[in-house]
Order: sequence, then structure tokens, then C-alpha cells
Amino acid sequence: MSKRRAIVILDFGSQYSQLIARRVRELEVYCELLPFDAPREQIDALDPPGFILSGGPASVYAPDAPQLPAHILDSGKPVLGICYGMQLLTHALGGTVDPGDEREYGLAHLTITQPDNPLFARLDTRRTRVWMSHGDRVTRLAPGFETIAVSENSPHAAIAHRERQLYGLQFHPEVAHTEHGRDILRAFVYDICHSEGGWTAGNFITDTIAEIRAQVGDGQVLLGLSGGVDSSVVAALLHRAIGERLTAVFVNTGLLRQNEPEQVVGTFHNRMHAKLVAVDATETFLSALKGVTDPEQKRKIIGEKFIRIFEAEARKLGKIDFLAQGTLYPDVIESAGTGKTTAKIKTHHNVGGLPADMQFKLIEPLRWLFKDEVRAVGEQLGLPKEMVWRHPFPGPGLAVRILGEITWERLEVLRQADAIFMAELWDSGWYHKTSQAFAVLLPVRSVGVMGDNRTYGNVIALRAVTTEDFMTADWANLPHNLLAKISNRIVNEIPTITRVVYDVSSKPPATIEWE
Ligand code: XMP
Repeated sequence: MSKRRAIVILDFGSQYSQLIARRVRELEVYCELLPFDAPREQIDALDPPGFILSGGPASVYAPDAPQLPAHILDSGKPVLGICYGMQLLTHALGGTVDPGDEREYGLAHLTITQPDNPLFARLDTRRTRVWMSHGDRVTRLAPGFETIAVSENSPHAAIAHRERQLYGLQFHPEVAHTEHGRDILRAFVYDICHSEGGWTAGNFITDTIAEIRAQVGDGQVLLGLSGGVDSSVVAALLHRAIGERLTAVFVNTGLLRQNEPEQVVGTFHNRMHAKLVAVDATETFLSALKGVTDPEQKRKIIGEKFIRIFEAEARKLGKIDFLAQGTLYPDVIESAGTGKTTAKIKTHHNVGGLPADMQFKLIEPLRWLFKDEVRAVGEQLGLPKEMVWRHPFPGPGLAVRILGEITWERLEVLRQADAIFMAELWDSGWYHKTSQAFAVLLPVRSVGVMGDNRTYGNVIALRAVTTEDFMTADWANLPHNLLAKISNRIVNEIPTITRVVYDVSSKPPATIEWE
């Protein structure tokens, strides 16, 4: 990867740290999110035009509070401190931070007292709504700083040291509720840091294709294709870069949704003419899962089988030099430990981790991208909208959506229910208004009545959520008439289902999947 200059965002543990990075990227400015204590050489290598300090849960006076590395201020480059970042700047330069009497959380009205400050130059108003989320606050400014905006509860809601180009915001410009957050970030990265811009899907594709060609040379590349957005975009990029020297392997686990194997293979053949090996391993998976009800056990069995099948196929292909993976930037951030100050909720491994004894070199063309950037690249590459905007689907597939034992019959019931749900979401325009939606087959039976007869059938749960990052999620407020239509269709079209329920749990405390 040729290195671009990057605005460096230092992560002090805020739940919004990744969001800051996404907002900056949306402004077409390349940035990287690094742990607050990242080695100086790593930061210097990015030749940052400026720094953003994220928020964080700590109090600057706490004994183990993450501190601002001295070289950031010594660099003389512009710095924007957000929330805890602002408190760090103040603390480091001789001001005072005090515990607020109470946490200020939610919307506040900001009054800009210095509209000619470069940070506000792109706003055409003096009053704007901002999102606050803090306990401590700055009570005495460090020498050279002045207040440039106030709010009801924050006498120093925004501060600036003009000469040194240091800025602090008590509120969160990265959060969508902050009306002009984007204008403030734009002013910082362009007007104050003089970033170059040009971080677009088109440029990314051109650069990445050149890099893949340089990296692969005459080598052969293997890719595990799932049909999801990430592996499809990797396939399209690789195919553009190296054509026939890419071989994709698609494993049908039997745990996929209705018509999914045919669609994945069909789309691949229509869009790319690279080699595709499609393996139908339904029997293998079903017999390995026979009688298994424990969710983690299911995941383990599926993961192991998948690797074994993938390996066997790879061996048949002869010499392979590279393995391509759809690793995304959030995975890179996680494994770099940026998240170590953030509470970890749950980590996932895609099915088919790296086979330990295979001597491949790795190609990860998406490792600098967030999911929304992967989608933009997919669209630019001309992949079909249904593929680019697909909801995520877990590696273990329907196995974790059939509670209890997995049988072919139960898989077929779930596939039908899920297909009805999806079709209605697409028809009503709700597919794009939800982040993930699916049906779950419950291991309980409930009494019903059909005509004059009592029935004793199965229960389907419907789940639809909205979320920015899948770490937290809200249940989607689907219209009642839509739910009624879906429920009617499911009980009418699937004889063994007598009851449909809608899951109204948010995450946390529930997770998105049921297992
Ligand atoms: P949870 O259920 O933890 O899910 O709220 C968050 C996101 O991760 C997906 N998920 C998985 N993906 N293998 C995967 O590749 C898994 O075992 C797995 N479990 C959950 C889930 O669909 C949601 O998008």
C-alpha cells in the first residue's frame, strides 16, 4: 500500500473514535485511527498534516489516565481535541479541568462567540445544536487559549489557541446530532491542516489495482468467496488487477439462504470471468451438525469443516502464492489494540480463519477501508446494488438462526420464512432503512387454530435492527401493517408455522443474532 499522508486521530477510548475517522474520510481526507500511545515512528511515517484527539471515558487527573504524548504538541502541527481531547490539551498546557457536578449528556445549544475563528468559518449561523457527552469540563483555560463558543452548561464549549492552531471542543462534531459537525471538521482538515483531499473510491481503485499488480507479480491468488460485500469487492478488485490469475472458491455449507448459492455463483459468472470453484458441501456440514444444539459448538464445527474443505480445494489447484482476504479497517484497528481502552463487547471470527499450515502470503486490499467505503468502491466497480447493499450475514449462516438442532427440514422452513421477510422488506423500501434483518426459527411449539382444528406448530421470530457499527443496535420500528403482512404470509405459506413474533430487544443487552 503506498502511504498517503494521513490526519492522525489518537484514540483515547471514546465510543465515537471510529466515527471521527469515518467522518474525516467522508470529507475525502485520508486519516488513520491509532492508539493514543502508538509509537512515534508509526505516526511520523504518516506525515500527518494535523491531529485529532478523541474523547474518552477517563478523567485527566486519574492516576492511570491516558496522557497526551509530548511529541504531538512539539510537532507544531494543528491539533483538535474533542471532549477528553480538549481536557488533555488544557491539562497539558497549564489550564484546569474539574469534575462537572453532573454528566452533561444530549443536545445542547451552542452559541458561537467568535464567528471569525477559522474553525467556524464554514458556518453561516451563530446558534447551532450540538451533542454533548461528558462529565469533567474545562474551568480555567490554559495560557494563550480563548473561548470561541459557549453553551447553556459549558462556559468553554469551544476553545482555540490561534497562534499554535490548537482547538478544543467540549461537544462531539462527529455525531450526527451535531448539526454543523461536518462543517467544523471540514474547516479543521482543509482550512487549518491544509489536507490534500482526493480520498475517493475512484482513486482508491486505481491505486489499489497498481499495488496488487506490484505485489502479486506473476503469482496465483486464491480467494474465499462468500457472496457478501467484502469478498465480492475483493474479487472484483483482484479480477481487474490480475484477471485469470485469481481463483475464487465458494463453499456451499447448506446453511445459506434461499437461492443464495445460485445467486452468488451466477453473479460471479456474469460480472467477472475469473475462475470459480463452487463446492457443494451440504451433506458434510449437515452430518457434522447432527444432534448439536450448543451455539458455540455449532460455530466450532462449522469453522473447522470450512477450513478443511477450503484447504482440500486449494491443494487441488496446485501452486498458490497468495491468499486474499476481505479484512476491513475496523478489524485492523481492533487487532492493533486501539480499542483497548474501549469496552469490548464481543468479537467475531469469520468462518474459515487462516489454515495454520498453508504457506500463503496475504493480500488484504480492503484493510484501510470502513464498510461504507467498501460499498462505495463496490458501486464504483459496477457491482450490482443488491450485492453492494446486502445486509451482513454471519459466517455460520442459518445454523445460528435455528435454535436447537439443525435439520434439512428446519433449514427449509427457515429459508422460506426468511425469503418472505426479505421480499416484503425490499418491496416496502424497508430493506435499506434497516441495517440487518432476518428470521429465526425457535425450538418451541405453540398451540394454534386453523379452520376448526387445533394446531401445534413452530414459532418464527423476526428481527430487524438499525445500527452504525453493529456493536450497539436498536430494533427497527417497522410499520405495523408491514409486520401484519409478513406474519400473514408466513403462517399462510408455511404450514408448520403457527405463530410469528417480532423481537423488540436492543443491543445491549441482547445481541443482534439469537445465538
Ligand atoms: P451479534 O449477534 O454479536 O452480531 O450482535 C454482531 C454482528 O456480527 C454478526 N455475527 C457473526 N459474523 N460469524 C460472523 O462472521 C459469527 O459467528 C457471527 N456472529 C454474529 C451478526 O450477524 C451481526 O452482523
